[in-house]
Amino acid sequence: MDQDDHVCLCFHVSKRKIVSYCRREKPPVASLISECLSAGTGCGWCVPFLKHLHKQTLAGDPNPDISGSPSDYAKRRATFRKTGQRDTASASDSNTDTATDTDTSV
Ligand code: FES
Repeated sequence: MDQDDHVCLCFHVSKRKIVSYCRREKPPVASLISECLSAGTGCGWCVPFLKHLHKQTLAGDPNPDISGSPSDYAKRRATFRKTGQRDTASASDSNTDTATDTDTSV
């Protein structure tokens, strides 16, 4: 995913904004990313990805990222919005922590 691709599609919040927010504010929990242009407070799709970027950024990763293309990301989000279910690729492809993290609030 490129820097200006949107992670939170509900509020059009880019990866760049999320990573910059995490680097600047160092929020102790990912849920505080919601203070960054309301990211994660809409449909909920991006929450595991916000957590993933939060974890990577606070660990000092120089290039926090989400794998996959923006179009695939948007398609999977559309499916999520229709069905309320995440496809199994969402967790494995993005290297998110959804398998062990049950807190979906942001
Ligand atoms: S994509 Fe972020 S809340 Fe819907």
